[in-house]
Amino acid sequence: MKGKQVLLTGGTGGLGLGVTPAVIAQGADVTIPYRSPKDVERLKGIISPADFARIHFIPANLEDEASVEKLVSRMTKVDVLIHLVGGFSKGKTHEYSFYDWKQEIDINLNTTFLTCKYSLKSMLENGYGRIVTVSSRAGAEPAGQLAAYSAAKAGVIALTKAIAKRSVGIADETKNTNITANTILPSVIDTPANRVGTPAEIADKWVKPESIAQVICFLASEAAKDVRGAAIPVYGNL
Ligand SMILES: NC(=O)c1ccc[n+]([C@@H]2O[C@H](COP(=O)([O-])OP(=O)(O)OC[C@H]3O[C@@H](n4cnc5c(N)ncnc54)[C@H](OP(=O)(O)O)[C@@H]3O)[C@@H](O)[C@H]2O)c1
Repeated sequence: MKGKQVLLTGGTGGLGLGVTPAVIAQGADVTIPYRSPKDVERLKGIISPADFARIHFIPANLEDEASVEKLVSRMTKVDVLIHLVGGFSKGKTHEYSFYDWKQEIDINLNTTFLTCKYSLKSMLENGYGRIVTVSSRAGAEPAGQLAAYSAAKAGVIALTKAIAKRSVGIADETKNTNITANTILPSVIDTPANRVGTPAEIADKWVKPESIAQVICFLASEAAKDVRGAAIPVYGNL
């Protein structure tokens, strides 16, 4: 990723704490949209001042199309999109509010669509692109009380594959280009938020953000040019 323009969403979140330093270490030129200045400060606390100074932080709400369009227009181009943004809530379907359902689709699926849409425009102009989205184990293996989250993350898998895969009888989106799209399926990640109230002997078994970062960095690299439309489980031993 050396010298590549990377749009890294969710780079200040729990998974971002592992992914952002790894992407910076690759020599990439990184843009991170954010909403919470507190999370930017948290990231600042774990990376060197020199690396922190290399990141372009841009306030943006990725659920809003105009905001995403403006964000991408502020970058010279997008070579790599790493889309970590997402959110989680649970509840029994018959008790789950329609408002919460729409929120889950908004934060997980609609942000993925919007960032892919505007990044792809830039990638197609330049003939190069790497898209890495984040689904979840629940997207491939839906579970009780996770209907909205599972449906949204299944949508992320479908969207990513649709961008990457050959189409039947109509024009492919990325065939014969050096543009790839892949998604990863984490199970439970060892983030600060997940650790709250969890005994260490359980949390210690969760997959570390730094480990997931290695998978993401490979998919985002030149070396992964022949990996297209994959949904890669990163479950560790869970
Ligand atoms: N944590 C897990 O165990 C787990 C397991 C499987 C999959 N995943 C997936 O992994 C990804 C990262 O999870 P995480 O644990 O790092 O979540 P997180 O700590 O909640 O971080 C999510 C990030 O997304 C940002 N964000 C949310 N909505 C946004 C919006 N509308 N516009 C701009 N930024 C927005 C948040 O910024 P603000 O705080 O500023 O809103 C935050 O930086 C998600 O897609 C999640 O679904 C997580």
